Amino acid sequence: MKRERWKSQLGFLLAAVGSAIGLGNIWRFSYMAYENGGGAFLIPYMTALLTAGIPLLILEFGIGHERMGSAPLAYAKIKKNWEWLGWWAVTLVMFGIVLYYMVVIAWCLNFFVLSFHLGWGDDPNAYFFKDFLSVSKAPSEIGQIRTPIFAALVIIWFLNWFIVYRGVQKGIELANKIFMPLLFFLTGVLVFWSLTLDGAMVGIRAYLTPDFSKLSNPKVWIDAYSQIFFTLSLGFGIMIAYASYLPAKANISRNAILTGVINSGYSLFAGLAVFSVLGFMATSHGKPVSEIVSQSIGLAFVAYPKAVSLIPGGNLFGAIFFLCLVVAGLSSSISIIEAFTSAMVDKFGLRRKPLITVVSILGFLGSIIFTTQAGLLWLDIVDHFLTHYGLVVVGILECILVGWCFRLKVLRNHINRISSVKLGVWWDLLIKYFVPLVLGIILLVDLCNELRKPYGGYSWASLILIGRDWLLLTLIAAFMIASRPWKTDNHKAGGRSRD
Ligand code: PHE
Repeated sequence: MKRERWKSQLGFLLAAVGSAIGLGNIWRFSYMAYENGGGAFLIPYMTALLTAGIPLLILEFGIGHERMGSAPLAYAKIKKNWEWLGWWAVTLVMFGIVLYYMVVIAWCLNFFVLSFHLGWGDDPNAYFFKDFLSVSKAPSEIGQIRTPIFAALVIIWFLNWFIVYRGVQKGIELANKIFMPLLFFLTGVLVFWSLTLDGAMVGIRAYLTPDFSKLSNPKVWIDAYSQIFFTLSLGFGIMIAYASYLPAKANISRNAILTGVINSGYSLFAGLAVFSVLGFMATSHGKPVSEIVSQSIGLAFVAYPKAVSLIPGGNLFGAIFFLCLVVAGLSSSISIIEAFTSAMVDKFGLRRKPLITVVSILGFLGSIIFTTQAGLLWLDIVDHFLTHYGLVVVGILECILVGWCFRLKVLRNHINRISSVKLGVWWDLLIKYFVPLVLGIILLVDLCNELRKPYGGYSWASLILIGRDWLLLTLIAAFMIASRPWKTDNHKAGGRSRD
């Protein structure tokens, strides 16, 4: 079977940027920057981008391109018995992250519609938690499915299915060629509009004024590295699959640098809109910004709607904001479905189209639990476990596999031969020692905090049954799929490098 191809390198770059820029860039980044020392956070954040984000992105692009395969195939071609790691990466994200990610996009779609008539009323906090989510008391109290969320979820899964079904060029590439310019334009409108609001500067000052004293706190550095990892969609085999569709001649390192820089630039820029609005709200209530800011979910679905109700012409403002979230979310979610699909096609030689339909239906069914009254609680737990442990462990093992079980120099030579930015030995050192070390520290600190007290005040039983077991189940699934025999000859072929 012929491997799918991007039509152009620009198409590939937009798709990679589309995957990277997601829900996390718009509210998670700004909140983190604010909490971790404002402008000073840029120091650890940039350090993380340069020492781990971009080097690992180069690695994922490089390995996908050189081994010509999705994560399981690429890993199997490095060392046969490491195939499971690739499967774990893609199942974690396909039967984990994407299930609730779609539900959050569905919330955004609801809020997009609500914006037009400011449907959240006078008390957006009560509206979001009580009327909209109707959150239950504990994860075990599933309650009912929330109809508006469910309805939006159907639309979101349908759109994802539709885009990925059309294939790499006519689906993913085309969608990103529309989504990315649209997203940049809408965000631009939002930023310039927010800057004209009264009190915008108060917000911006709160966002960017550096507090260097925070830099001595290890948490700030850990947050920076985890944010970079999540925001660049690293560790899940997504960038590997995307790079495997590149032609033989492709500028790997330049594309990786561009993806990293555009993604972080976008985060910084979008943060201006978020904080000008918070500044505006603080000024109109005569309160300091610190009393207005809330954590990630509250920021988008409570604080923002509150502000939107105060802004003259706010309906349109709110609509643009939530549309940005929907677009950013979609361009990331399609990349997840593609990473998994491409892995199945590589191994079992399945026909792409029926496979995508089956995967989307399964994914949709899996998402339903997150549309129930316990949805937010499940989301919180699953997200915590997958991004804190799954992601970090996969990242460490990925560095060990490629750095230690493969001649990294071969990969570096391959990348250097076709790329304009040349890598030196420093890259090997980062991959072999530095990145696994940093990730190892993050893992240890997380584990210590975990054992000290139950995360988020949930019962140990729910954390174990939902969080830990979700990780274990995906791991078992990965081993099972890896143990099946290959139905294609893909794994017998070598890589692209001539060394
Ligand atoms: N990078 C996306 C974001 O910042 C999230 C994501 C993670 C997407 C993992 C795909 C896979 O929101």
